[in-house]
Amino acid sequence: MPELSSTQTIPKVGAVPKHVAIIMDGNGRWATQRFMPRVAGHSKGVDAVRTMVEACIEQGIDYLTLFAFSSENWRRPEEEVSILMRLFMTALEREVNRLHANDICLKVVGDLSRFSEALQEKIRDAESKTANNKRLTVTICANYGGRWDIVQAMNKLLAAQPEITQIEEHHLAPYLSMAYAPEPDLFIRTGGEKRVSNFLLWQLAYTELYFTDTYWPDFGRTELTAAIQSYQHRERRFGRTSEQLLESKKAP
Ligand code: IPE
Ligand code: IPE
Ligand code: MG
Repeated sequence: MPELSSTQTIPKVGAVPKHVAIIMDGNGRWATQRFMPRVAGHSKGVDAVRTMVEACIEQGIDYLTLFAFSSENWRRPEEEVSILMRLFMTALEREVNRLHANDICLKVVGDLSRFSEALQEKIRDAESKTANNKRLTVTICANYGGRWDIVQAMNKLLAAQPEITQIEEHHLAPYLSMAYAPEPDLFIRTGGEKRVSNFLLWQLAYTELYFTDTYWPDFGRTELTAAIQSYQHRERRFGRTSEQLLESKKAP
């Protein structure tokens, strides 16, 4: 059972983050800068995902969560949306065996009901094939929105325990779509924007935030190392004072 709230335990300063969550942004601008169609950026973005999975294993990270398609991305031109769906489908087909061979567990979270039946089936197959893998858990957030997540958790809770009249945090947490993972330690957004764009709103409560101008297709091992180094220099206090943290280190 993961710790449901990372706000309860203080990780050591200098520790590698257990859970890294990334908004992979900047594919379109990466392509436009090279006079290429936006889709070329998305396909380079898939290569960057592959590299990131390997890099996370090398770094000893346990959970990697990637924002691939937001609930707001349906607002994009129909052609771009359908290309993104096709890319997602082919990436799943191509990568599942490799993920499985490397002991990687794959999860896809979000409102999957809006995807084609064929894609939903591919997702279910990939998840069940890799369900018992232990080395790294990769979560793809697809048609995901942080508000959607909180609302769906609330509805599940109400259905399961209609007798509850006063909702508390610990009631809701098990129904959130990433209840199987500890909350992210490190959030990375590539592509220069400094916003959360309806990503893991609940889970990011005490996550360390890291923003970089690098476009997602250019984000590789060196850039991940830089983000981790930035994380390792931060003192996570969770509301306490620096002095309190020093005291607790002294305690046997
Ligand atoms: C992120 O890159 C990928 C998705 C949202 C699917 P963008 O497509 O948002 O790239 P920019 O922000 O337009 O450069
Ligand atoms: C956020 O990127 C969503 C994903 C990376 C999947 P967007 O490019 O859609 O974000 P906004 O709309 O610029 O905030
Ligand atoms: Mg963008």
